[in-house]
Amino acid sequence: MEIIHFSAECYPVAKVGGLGDVVGALPKYQNKLGHVAKVVMPAYQTKFLHQHDFEVVYDGWVRLGYTNFQVRIFREKTNELGFDLYLVHIGGLLDREKVYGYDDDTERFLAFQIAALDWIAQWEHQPNVIHCHDHHTGLIPFMLGNCHNYRHLNHIPTVLTIHNAQYQGQFGWDKLYYLPAFDLRNSSKLDWGNCINPLASAIKCAWRVTTVSPSYLEEISYNANGLENLLAQERGKSFGILNGIDVEVWNPQKDPMLTKGFNARTVESGKKANKDAICAIFNLDKEKPLFTFIGRLVGEKGADLLPDIFYNALQQSDGEINIIALGSGDPHVEDRLNELTHQFPGSYNAYIGYNEALSHQIYAAADFILMPSRVEPCGLNQMYALRYGTIPIVRRIGGLKDTIIDIGDGGFGICHDQTSIWDVGHAIGRAYELFLDQKKVKEIRKFIMALDHSWDKAAQQYIDLYQM
Ligand code: ADP
Ligand code: GLC
Repeated sequence: MEIIHFSAECYPVAKVGGLGDVVGALPKYQNKLGHVAKVVMPAYQTKFLHQHDFEVVYDGWVRLGYTNFQVRIFREKTNELGFDLYLVHIGGLLDREKVYGYDDDTERFLAFQIAALDWIAQWEHQPNVIHCHDHHTGLIPFMLGNCHNYRHLNHIPTVLTIHNAQYQGQFGWDKLYYLPAFDLRNSSKLDWGNCINPLASAIKCAWRVTTVSPSYLEEISYNANGLENLLAQERGKSFGILNGIDVEVWNPQKDPMLTKGFNARTVESGKKANKDAICAIFNLDKEKPLFTFIGRLVGEKGADLLPDIFYNALQQSDGEINIIALGSGDPHVEDRLNELTHQFPGSYNAYIGYNEALSHQIYAAADFILMPSRVEPCGLNQMYALRYGTIPIVRRIGGLKDTIIDIGDGGFGICHDQTSIWDVGHAIGRAYELFLDQKKVKEIRKFIMALDHSWDKAAQQYIDLYQM
């Protein structure tokens, strides 16, 4: 089966969050199952682009309203990612350093989708499935089914994976003229809330819809940033498939970013070496339990509460715990997390910014990872933490609920019900108590490192869905 994944992110080419991790891994695992999965994404000005060799497979123009932009599509020559990677270069729109966050993101991702379809429309053969990830590629199912230019492709099945329904990419009807011509009687397939809403359109037009965990599929029928009714209406074609992790990239035994590699047998000495290194760099006490938060500093992750949660925990524990935060996002939260560094030198530190290698080191070094998310469609951090012997403290929501069982229920993590300062504070207290029982901690570490969250199972579940 030939599967084309369309995405705005793909690790290690360009990653902002978990979307990048998923699209960098799922195609590889699908290829291992004997299929041909490829990734098509924008060519940003990233390190990856400059460090690899490419061949041009398409040279043309893309029309966006009244403007034409030059397009070049590059194929990475070595196939080192485990799948064919195609980068869509559009001068003046996509060739920038960041993935998102520009005023013309609507134009950028529209041009990307149209250019990619124009290219596929010229192929001599046709792929078996087109798999779109999130709203940046959400207009593809509509365009394939409705635009005159792609009429000959309209029998290709499309799948939409919703990684996060909070972000929908909506824009005004005044930009309708950007889209290639279609029968205007079908305009309602683009509409949600009097806007052109790419995520809503994909939910309507894709042949199948998936969410990245079963619990999230349930939750979006009552919490999906305005799309609840639509999702309820399309429930019949929707499935929840829990993400996996790339156990080759996230392998504590072979991870080149760690101070010392380790496995379940050597976990105690391995984690100690990594913790010693992190504590030395960040001026923390290596004898005390190390708590961490890694992630985007946004409301969905409960990041606005972190400064108060940390302040209370550090104050109440009287210097008995250490905390290190790694993240970027809301500038106000960033400032407050930085300020705490001056209040609790020696037991708290923060790295504000994005740092892939440091994230690996912290997963390996920490004793506990906090995920007090308000919304968590899947969450990968908790699965990376498990594999690196770090005990997750999570809110029971979305994918966190599907992956972590509380020790009180015979499980291996610490769960709380609400994203509140009190709930998380209480959970930290439970973690501290647990830490005092080192025998139990050692048992849990060995157990969680052996849990299997590899993509093997989910990659097959997607294939079953395509076959359906
Ligand atoms: P989301 O996609 O909502 O951000 P996930 O848990 O699915 O959440 O994935 C987050 C991914 O991004 C993980 O690989 C995590 O390690 C990584 N990450 C988040 N923030 C940072 C950061 N500041 N530095 C390095 N890696 C980060
Ligand atoms: C989104 C979600 C996150 C999920 C990731 C990968 O960014 O916020 O929960 O793990 O996508 O599917």
